[in-house]
Amino acid sequence: MRFAAIADIHGNHAALKAVLDDVTSLGIRNVVNLGDCFSGPLEAGKTADLLLLLDPEGTATVRGNHDRYLLEAPGAAKLGPWEGDALAQLASRHLQWLSRLLPSRVYRDEVFLCHATPQADEVYWLEKVSEDGHVGLRPLEEIEAMAAGVSQGLILCGHSHVPRIVQLSDGRLIVNPGSVGCPAYDDDHPVFHRIENGHTLASYAVLEKVGTVWSVQLRNIPYDHMSMSRLAAKRGKDDWALALATGRV
Ligand SMILES: [Fe+2]
Repeated sequence: MRFAAIADIHGNHAALKAVLDDVTSLGIRNVVNLGDCFSGPLEAGKTADLLLLLDPEGTATVRGNHDRYLLEAPGAAKLGPWEGDALAQLASRHLQWLSRLLPSRVYRDEVFLCHATPQADEVYWLEKVSEDGHVGLRPLEEIEAMAAGVSQGLILCGHSHVPRIVQLSDGRLIVNPGSVGCPAYDDDHPVFHRIENGHTLASYAVLEKVGTVWSVQLRNIPYDHMSMSRLAAKRGKDDWALALATGRV
């Protein structure tokens, strides 16, 4: 069993295209998507068309917090900066597809998929934000507590945009493939903090089960990130423009 995992595309069509080309070049046909597909000032509509081709029934995709915000949006005027540009580009078929996504699901009986944690879509599973805004590895006992009730040996999550592999004491692996389309951002929740990968590449993961064990390859793919940075700047989103140009905020 071999497949690719993508997450946190955030409307970056150029990054998604580069990742999918890389997936194809490896001979991999199956892709799971851990959510936060469209929100951001980039190309939500083109991204949606591509993702609907990839997973028309939404059976290998889970819903992220930003996907939920798009569905809950009372109207574009009230939307936050990440949702407004995206919602303006999405057609009703795209929103119908989003509305079918589950917050978590099991893929091929063997892999547990969620956007953030099994319990919540706005909590980093593998990272912890300290009161002064430092983002570090979450203590193992806290990570394991959130994995209670998950029986699959491979668990995939996204949300923090940080590629990371954590092994639980019983041998299970939790893998965050990183973000396809947004390498850096800052956030006020739970306190102000920055996520900075420090590069401009599109991140994803290849998972392969050989015998009874999983191997994980974290891949980082170059693409024309400056075209996306210029688009963000054109839409007045200077924070996104800097993040896409540098991997920093
Ligand atoms: Fe998220």
